[in-house]
Amino acid sequence: MSLYEEIVSGKEKLSLVGLGYVGMPIAVAFAKKIKVVGFDLNTAKIELYKSGVDPTNEVGDEVIKATKVAFTADPSMLREAKFHIVAVPTPVNDDHTPDLTPVEGASRILGQNLTKGSIVVFESTVYPGVTEDICVPILEKESGLKCGVDFKIGYSPERINPGDKVHRLETITKIVSGMDEETLEEIAHVYELVVEAGVYRAASIKVAEAAKVIENSQRDINIAFMNELSIIFNKMGIDTKSVLEAAGTKWNFLKFQPGLVGGHCIGVDPYYLTYKAEQLGYHSQIILSGRRINDDMGKYVAETLVKNLIKADIPVKSAKVAILGFTFKENCPDTRNTKIIDIYNELKEYGITAQVTDDNADADEAKRLYGIEFTPMKSIKDCDAVILAVAHESYRSLEMADIDALYADRGKAKVLTDLKGILDKKAYTDAGYIYWRL
Ligand SMILES: NC(=O)c1ccc[n+]([C@@H]2O[C@H](COP(=O)([O-])OP(=O)(O)OC[C@H]3O[C@@H](n4cnc5c(N)ncnc54)[C@H](O)[C@@H]3O)[C@@H](O)[C@H]2O)c1
Repeated sequence: MSLYEEIVSGKEKLSLVGLGYVGMPIAVAFAKKIKVVGFDLNTAKIELYKSGVDPTNEVGDEVIKATKVAFTADPSMLREAKFHIVAVPTPVNDDHTPDLTPVEGASRILGQNLTKGSIVVFESTVYPGVTEDICVPILEKESGLKCGVDFKIGYSPERINPGDKVHRLETITKIVSGMDEETLEEIAHVYELVVEAGVYRAASIKVAEAAKVIENSQRDINIAFMNELSIIFNKMGIDTKSVLEAAGTKWNFLKFQPGLVGGHCIGVDPYYLTYKAEQLGYHSQIILSGRRINDDMGKYVAETLVKNLIKADIPVKSAKVAILGFTFKENCPDTRNTKIIDIYNELKEYGITAQVTDDNADADEAKRLYGIEFTPMKSIKDCDAVILAVAHESYRSLEMADIDALYADRGKAKVLTDLKGILDKKAYTDAGYIYWRL
């Protein structure tokens, strides 16, 4: 009997190591078909899951309540499983080098609880070589087992898009890879249990690792190009969105938008690739210059707002500014690596302490990571300037009267930054706003 068959028959279990935005939905999806152990080091998170709360909003509380995943913070429970999926974070250090501590830590814990005949699949986004050159030696050392003989490995990058209810684990083609043909087939069959869109068998583990890291690098570079265009067109007094709409009528014009690049994927993953390239003696030209542009956009947005305050004849230092939205992307509670903080910090340099509101965001996380206390939306009033920073559904439905109500009546023009371009520029300009978007 193959491991896949044993898993399907209920004889063996699958485990998830790391139950965040990626790992938890995978665990929940598999638990509809097979036995799943869900392990995370974060005991508070495990308690939340056990009590039926989904802090990620990815599957919702009802699904968490109903799931059969055996949630645990006890690593020894991993011994009960033979097919392991690792989905721990892969952040960067302050100097933008990869921080492999969680991947190494997970490999250590898993190694200590690995049994013969297991398959370990890494899902964390890494540079090519991390699975085989860094994780495998740790797994071998901790388990005393030999990779390729006693256990097998694979890599399957995650492509989910938190907050996106269309592109989900089930509906996105999943790249799978394995250390040999037999392992690849086992891994493919296991994922086929939950991925309705099917799997793509990559030629090797390194190919699969590289594919993921370039998907996000490609997005990053394209967004950087849009941001550069936005800076150029702003100087020319041309509206970038209108230019992009016009250019977008050509069949092969790529549809990207300018914007802040935050979060822990697109703004981070390119650094994994450039780090490895650097180790091999190649200094990235394109990827890193794109990173620089994107990383500076928060500062640019704040500076433009200050110029617009001056244009409206509003004293900068005493200006009352509100930022609507703080998460790194729309309809998602995640504030980690949000670039809105760059706007906030840059405004502080000008003596402005902006009020921040975001009902979607994880308020405790924002307080813990940035020391920011949210102001409830209903208390946002008497503003000189408003930055509509995140395109949450709740902000998309705001009418001009709702926006008007946020401002003070001091006889000055209302300064509005519509970062994501979700409002009707003409309507606001006609209404006398100093309207600006990237
Ligand atoms: N969130 C996304 O949009 C997304 C999309 C595709 C790929 N990815 C990649 O997937 C990986 C996971 O991302 P995420 O967003 O789920 O991260 P996350 O921070 O939401 O979750 C990771 C979880 O791993 C746990 N953890 C950390 N170290 C651990 C260890 N040693 N043992 C057990 N648990 C441990 C953390 O407590 C946390 O709950 C990253 O490599 C990321 O780049 C993320």
